Amino acid sequence: GDVFTYDPGFTSTAACDSAITYIDGDKGELQYRGYPIEQLAEQSHFLEVCYLLLYGELPNAAQMQDFEHRVTNHTMVHEQMHYFFRGFRRDSHPMATMVGVVGAMSAFYHDSTDISDPWQREVAAIRMIAKLPTIAAMAYKYSMGQPFVYPKNSLDYASNFLHMCFAVPCADYVVDPILSKAMDRIMMLHADHEQNASTSTVRLAGSSGANPFACVAAGIACLWGPAHGGANQACLEMLREIGTVENIPEAIRRAKDKNDPFRLMGFGHRVYKNFDPRAKVMKESADEVLDLLGIHDNETLKVAKELERIALEDTYFVEKKLYPNVDFYSGIILEAMGFPTSMFTPIFAVSRTVGWISQWKEMIGDPTQKIGRPRQLYIGQTARDYVAVNDR
Ligand code: CMC
Repeated sequence: GDVFTYDPGFTSTAACDSAITYIDGDKGELQYRGYPIEQLAEQSHFLEVCYLLLYGELPNAAQMQDFEHRVTNHTMVHEQMHYFFRGFRRDSHPMATMVGVVGAMSAFYHDSTDISDPWQREVAAIRMIAKLPTIAAMAYKYSMGQPFVYPKNSLDYASNFLHMCFAVPCADYVVDPILSKAMDRIMMLHADHEQNASTSTVRLAGSSGANPFACVAAGIACLWGPAHGGANQACLEMLREIGTVENIPEAIRRAKDKNDPFRLMGFGHRVYKNFDPRAKVMKESADEVLDLLGIHDNETLKVAKELERIALEDTYFVEKKLYPNVDFYSGIILEAMGFPTSMFTPIFAVSRTVGWISQWKEMIGDPTQKIGRPRQLYIGQTARDYVAVNDR
């Protein structure tokens, strides 16, 4: 029969060309369109990074203003979508709601689902970047039993998201600039990461010609898993469960025990075998944010730092090249902002949307693109004859 390369988990297969994101896993380097993540995190802002990922170059002032205007114009969701939210149980995980609502966008926005039309592709891209924060905030408000808060377009992207999550009609709410800067940075650090599981899912879904809303919904579903985006929720819950520095050795022991399924969440990466450059920025950011907020005795941060220190000296983690990843410190910042752990992965989804869309756009624009169709090594029964039910 046919001969195939066997590569479960795609550890050594490149499935596409891409000019968007570069990772050197041995050196711990990450670049968006050639720009190092550290420089972007320090000097850029999320919407500028969105422009860069989508169009390939940093915008000039006029281009930035135009892009901001276009995104801002699309922040509201169709009013009927409010009813759609109300069909979910109150205690639904916001990721469950988001998979459904984003998938349903193709039912609400028919006029941007024809992927053969470049203008419709552009509108779909802008709509998703603009509306994902609104949808995530609505999922949160709904789970809290609070009224939905409409977007406020005078605010920047990150501030607007915080406003929609934390404003309530009965009180004044002013977004703390420390929090909005921290949120913006979290969004930049999560914006793209080349062919990770959810992005590959978006590409595979898109390769069949499915509309981009459906593809992004597939990406959100994939992101939810604890080995991927769900790790930020799982990590903070693990740190809380460890609770105090004294319990760390037991957690380390369990993580090393092959008969125990427990893993150190927020540790390890398929590509990074030196360190995750995003984790480095995130750790500094966690320190800075907690300090600026006047939180000096955060037990979770203490546990995280000590856990990192002990793990990095342990031969198991050293030999397997396991380092803290982006999810290790992000939860501490999100918790300090007032988010429940169930919102951590939705915030990752909001941030990664631009990456998914940029990768989808790159793929659709490639004339050599084909449907993604992996093969298999068949290990089942050889041909046999059907047996009637009474004879079995
Ligand atoms: N704790 C303990 N042992 C680990 C861990 C961990 N977090 N991660 C990997 N290992 C061990 C694993 O048991 C295996 O050992 P052995 O070779 O003896 O069987 C070895 O290290 C290699 O692990 P792997 O699972 O084969 O590696 P992978 O590249 O398939 O998986 C990973 C990468 C990120 C899924 C994995 O490290 C993991 O499950 N980490 C915890 C979850 C996590 O933090 N995920 C977030 C990833 S970063 C951003 C994102 O996508 O959200």
